[in-house]
Amino acid sequence: MGVGCTTVMHRRIALFSLLLGGYALDSAASPNFFHDPLGLTSGLSSLVPGSRATSLDKRAGKFDTMSNGSTVLWVIQDTYEGQTFFDSFGFYTDSDPTNGLVTFVDQQTAFNQGLAYVTSDNKVIMQGDNTTWLPSGVNRSSVRIFSNAEYNSGLFVLDLDMAPWGCGVWPAFWTVGSGEWPWNGEIDIIEGVHDNEHNQVTWHTAPGCNLTATSNFTGTIVQTNGVDNLQCNAFIDYNAGCGVTEWSRASYGPYFDSQGGGVFAMKWDADGIAVWSFYRAAIPQDIVQGEPNPSNWGQPVASLSPMGCNVTQYFANHSIIFDITFCGDWAGNSYATSGCPGTCPDRLMDPANFVNATWIINSLKVYKQATLSAGATNGAGHSGVALEMTGWILCIATVLHLVIMAS
Ligand SMILES: *[C@@H]1O[C@H](CO)[C@@H](O)[C@H](O)[C@H]1NC(C)=O
Ligand SMILES: *[C@@H]1O[C@H](CO)[C@@H](O)[C@H](O)[C@H]1NC(C)=O
Ligand SMILES: *[C@@H]1O[C@H](CO)[C@@H](O)[C@H](O)[C@H]1NC(C)=O
Ligand SMILES: *[C@@H]1O[C@H](CO)[C@@H](O)[C@H](O)[C@H]1NC(C)=O
Ligand SMILES: *[C@@H]1O[C@H](CO)[C@@H](O)[C@H](O)[C@H]1NC(C)=O
Ligand SMILES: *[C@@H]1O[C@H](CO)[C@@H](O)[C@H](O)[C@H]1NC(C)=O
Ligand SMILES: *[C@@H]1O[C@H](CO)[C@@H](O)[C@H](O)[C@H]1NC(C)=O
Ligand SMILES: *[C@@H]1O[C@H](CO)[C@@H](O)[C@H](O)[C@H]1NC(C)=O
Repeated sequence: MGVGCTTVMHRRIALFSLLLGGYALDSAASPNFFHDPLGLTSGLSSLVPGSRATSLDKRAGKFDTMSNGSTVLWVIQDTYEGQTFFDSFGFYTDSDPTNGLVTFVDQQTAFNQGLAYVTSDNKVIMQGDNTTWLPSGVNRSSVRIFSNAEYNSGLFVLDLDMAPWGCGVWPAFWTVGSGEWPWNGEIDIIEGVHDNEHNQVTWHTAPGCNLTATSNFTGTIVQTNGVDNLQCNAFIDYNAGCGVTEWSRASYGPYFDSQGGGVFAMKWDADGIAVWSFYRAAIPQDIVQGEPNPSNWGQPVASLSPMGCNVTQYFANHSIIFDITFCGDWAGNSYATSGCPGTCPDRLMDPANFVNATWIINSLKVYKQATLSAGATNGAGHSGVALEMTGWILCIATVLHLVIMAS
């Protein structure tokens, strides 16, 4: 699902009419020419021969700047939303590797039992069974889905009204590499248990990938016995991984939901892997407008810097996963100290305990990076993205040619 020439043409064609109607093409002589209030020129001046991205463009706020000085634009790659959402996901039906007291059902069962559906106003719902009384020792039905598409970088933006929570409930929105776990890495973007209020972001990897404690992020590093878990190595500390707890009370559970949910964004590129979260009232306009620019968002809540982890080596071929499990390694083992009543297995029996074990998703959008200018020194640039940009330039040149022929 690449960016088609038609998409580019839609966004740019008005500009070329403007260009040809209003001014000579050697526009580099007049920087003001590119100061268009409609924002049509975003990304363009650096594509027109003889011009370059100006400070005006940067103030327009659509360009992201990489640590190596490159200017990049995030362009849409895949959109998962509405009635077609489940077409792009498989339903996982094996037992829960984290030992949850759960039965992950197949797609047909999920649809038939109302555990996965899309509402008439295009909200995507996934939930644990909240209607069936269970005898002691019987697992509760729920869903776990994985994207058919696999990714090796990108900006993943999830807009949701509600994330699951409640005593004994353990949901996650995460990505994981294909092949034998954990060799291609795991990125947990939303994860929590019970009625916690602070989301936890965690990386689980092969040995040798470490969190850099001095990286610029607002969250708190998760500790074991008073020591920061800096090693993401899944083979130590009972697979605690390297985690960061968000500062905001509105990042998980009842407060997140009572704010109307919000947006979680995970950026994975040559600068590492970072996560931001925004409750609804705080969602940046560039996200709302579908032109996300992480350099406008302030510090992330969590970040895995390339200083301690070669992300190309430790993360590959990631599928996107949503799940809701119950009890198990985290929610079960922490239950006694959670303030929740009784025991986790007992809690499982009454369906009324699971009325908030629900994902309500507006959209999941995956953007990819398009490099507009390669920074001070020119990198090799023979990447897929660079090739695609060549495609854009050819495409724009074609439009230009057609417009000239027609006039
Ligand atoms: C119930 O969940 C447990 C823990 O994940 C699993 O070992 C067991 O096989 C499950 N029971 C059934 C009948 O699926
Ligand atoms: C943190 O941010 C400061 C200021 O932007 C920067 O100089 C420093 O290199 C950053 N540190 C890390 C570890 O990225
Ligand atoms: C990660 O941390 C371990 C343990 O401190 C250390 O042996 C290893 O060299 C570190 N690796 C990197 C890439 O920083
Ligand atoms: C990171 O890993 C990739 C793939 O294994 C390798 O090609 C690259 O040289 C590594 N980068 C650094 C800085 O070690
Ligand atoms: C990722 O998937 C591609 C295509 O299936 C495969 O060729 C490649 O070896 C995989 N990479 C890793 C690191 O597993
Ligand atoms: C579900 O959420 C509502 C609204 O926050 C709350 O009043 C109720 O106690 C929750 N129920 C459970 C079982 O968590
Ligand atoms: C189960 O959850 C769904 C979705 O949140 C909700 O519409 C329904 O009312 C719940 N059922 C019960 C019995 O609470
Ligand atoms: C900076 O990184 C981007 C993205 O990885 C790459 O396309 C670009 O060529 C790099 N620029 C330099 C100057 O190395």
